[in-house]
Amino acid sequence: MKTTLEIAGISLSLRRYPLQNNESLQAWDAADEYLIDHLESMDLAENSHLLVLNDSFGAITCWASQKGVRVTTVNDSLLSQQSVEQNLTENALASEKVNLLSSVDTLPSDITLAVMKLPKNNRLLVWQLQQLSHLTNDSLVLVSGAKAKDIHTSTLKLFEKYLGTTTTSLAKKKSRLIFTQKEKHIERLPAATTSFEVPEYKLSLENHANVFSSESLDIAAYLMLEHIPQSEDIKNIIDLGCGNGVLSIQAARLNPQATITAVDESFMAVASAKLNLEKHGIDESRIHCLANNCLDGFEKNTADLVLCNPPFHQLHAVTDHIAWQMFCDARRVLEPNGRIVVIGNRHLGYHAKLKRLFGNAQVIASNQKFVIVEAQK
Ligand SMILES: C[S@@+](CC[C@H](N)C(=O)[O-])C[C@H]1O[C@@H](n2cnc3c(N)ncnc32)[C@H](O)[C@@H]1O
Repeated sequence: MKTTLEIAGISLSLRRYPLQNNESLQAWDAADEYLIDHLESMDLAENSHLLVLNDSFGAITCWASQKGVRVTTVNDSLLSQQSVEQNLTENALASEKVNLLSSVDTLPSDITLAVMKLPKNNRLLVWQLQQLSHLTNDSLVLVSGAKAKDIHTSTLKLFEKYLGTTTTSLAKKKSRLIFTQKEKHIERLPAATTSFEVPEYKLSLENHANVFSSESLDIAAYLMLEHIPQSEDIKNIIDLGCGNGVLSIQAARLNPQATITAVDESFMAVASAKLNLEKHGIDESRIHCLANNCLDGFEKNTADLVLCNPPFHQLHAVTDHIAWQMFCDARRVLEPNGRIVVIGNRHLGYHAKLKRLFGNAQVIASNQKFVIVEAQK
């Protein structure tokens, strides 16, 4: 796997963080290279302020930083943000001219050029286009890059709808660029969240644009709601990969004596979970919502219940290593006799994984598609 990107006369060392043994995936793609080549040809003025959206591992940010221009990079993923930071440091490019923001921060108003890696999720794309449209700089140009197969006519229509005239480049190494001239201005940004109801559980859930299953309740989460443990002995609950916080709310209602720690690596998920716990009347003193990679940095033996509906992909890569990481972290953080309750597709084999790790595991519920497995430390 290549870790050195030779481009535009410079050499960048780029890796995906957190580092993994046997990592086989490169930290940049052909669309990053196409974007960098194009930006290089634009000959940016020294006082430019570049906005970089969704730069998963920092290739574009590192390139811009070595140019000496101001850069603001926005990611929804904490892991992406950490990768950008690490890659800047590795290349001795960290400086006060580089500003890393989360997806729930307000965009700076003095952007001179915007660069976007097309997000996988259309709701996030629309939200980001709306944010750009809301900026007052009317001469703003947006250059976006993606795999050609991910750029549809409907995608381009969104750029036209929210910003203005949009054209595309020829394909190069199966990637394409999208050029948009900002001609439209949204006076007032629409609400950052949309909501849906789950009447059976009296839930009304707010969802920022990039939250998992943001338009209806995930069917696994729905099954899990019915099987959340309830006991006076439960004092500290962790909702690991909390998404919009649906499991946190139900766990908090069933266990009114317990505190709830809702953890996700998506900033929009954490913001949604916080909003939803508050909206459902869970007292602030019982809630702790944080962006974190699994349970990195959590003290051992500090929780008695971990609830987990694990992800099976990260950014664009399909993987089960995050689920495994979550289970290993949960085992460390659980007190002796503490429990983890996990839901997953049958074919993912979580039962066997938990049994290997905890020495015990039992199926507490199942349907045709999902199983809920509990293991005790
Ligand atoms: C299948 S969703 C479950 C969401 C919610 N708990 C539910 O049941 O609807 C998995 C969640 O794990 C989060 N996630 C992915 N990788 C993570 C990581 N390394 N650390 C923490 N959370 C992560 C995702 O952002 C996503 O919100």
